[in-house]
Amino acid sequence: MEKLRVCFLGTGSMGSAVMEGLISSGHPLELISATTRSTESASKFRARGISAMAIAEAPDANALLAGDADLIVLGVKPYQIVDVLNEIKDEIAPNAVVISMAAGIKLETMAAVVPGNKNLIRTMPNTPALVGMGVTGVAPASSAAEDAIDATLELFNAVGVALEITEDQIDALSAVSGSGPAWVFYIMEQWEKIAVNHGFTAEQAALMVRGTVAGSIDLLAQSDKELAELRANVTSPGGTTEQIIASLEKADLQGIFEQSLQQALKRAREIGEGKG
Ligand SMILES: NC(=O)c1ccc[n+]([C@@H]2O[C@H](COP(=O)([O-])OP(=O)(O)OC[C@H]3O[C@@H](n4cnc5c(N)ncnc54)[C@H](OP(=O)(O)O)[C@@H]3O)[C@@H](O)[C@H]2O)c1
Repeated sequence: MEKLRVCFLGTGSMGSAVMEGLISSGHPLELISATTRSTESASKFRARGISAMAIAEAPDANALLAGDADLIVLGVKPYQIVDVLNEIKDEIAPNAVVISMAAGIKLETMAAVVPGNKNLIRTMPNTPALVGMGVTGVAPASSAAEDAIDATLELFNAVGVALEITEDQIDALSAVSGSGPAWVFYIMEQWEKIAVNHGFTAEQAALMVRGTVAGSIDLLAQSDKELAELRANVTSPGGTTEQIIASLEKADLQGIFEQSLQQALKRAREIGEGKG
């Protein structure tokens, strides 16, 4: 990995998060390049010593930079993936690893544009990658070489943790961890609202809920106990916590989560079929 030339095509929120992780891991700046749409974005990278080109300045920037890369990370929007692959297909090295972060774009769709490339990899990061704590699913094409998969796992391990999965698992992974931050924030929002409804100020509610979540995560990380055991430690028989858990069970929280996941899977299938 340390000698690989990594090119980011589309370096916005997610592309730059992965790039920052790569830089923090000690990857030499001279082995990193990037494209953006606007000159303004490209200038920011150039100011840091990264070879960056904007489409606004050079319409063939993607092809120019991708041609020199061992790892090509596609960080453009999903609807742009096929166009960008078309732009670079005649320039990229046969063994280059082409990594997409785009939601909903299948490996077979990418392979149809670059049929000669065996190292196609689809990934799904999540937003905590922006603070180096992302969870990324990595789904390689069956033709991808072991070292191509390893380099991709290493790249995403630089912004959190990466796990190898099969492409048929990526929609479920998207719903669980890709959308995961939304599950967490939504639940915390509801939790803070009930604290406010019971007389606490918004600041106090935030302290209670956010502090409890942060503390519980640390407790879990520093413990050798499983979730259920840590929960049981707070749930004395006949006590108040027992009533909370019983209510959540009665409301079938797991069933609600399953239903939510099924809706996300349905929507992913629609997006995959090009339904908006
Ligand atoms: N953000 C997330 O939470 C998340 C999570 C999982 C997966 N993803 C995937 O990651 C990809 C990028 O999402 P994002 O949120 O990072 O988007 P974003 O912040 O809008 O970044 C898009 C980047 O692409 C650049 N760009 C636009 N057209 C281009 C072109 N023709 N050639 C080269 N670069 C071009 C933009 O340049 P400018 O900076 O000049 O506009 C920008 O740097 C998407 O496919 C998305 O599905 C995102």
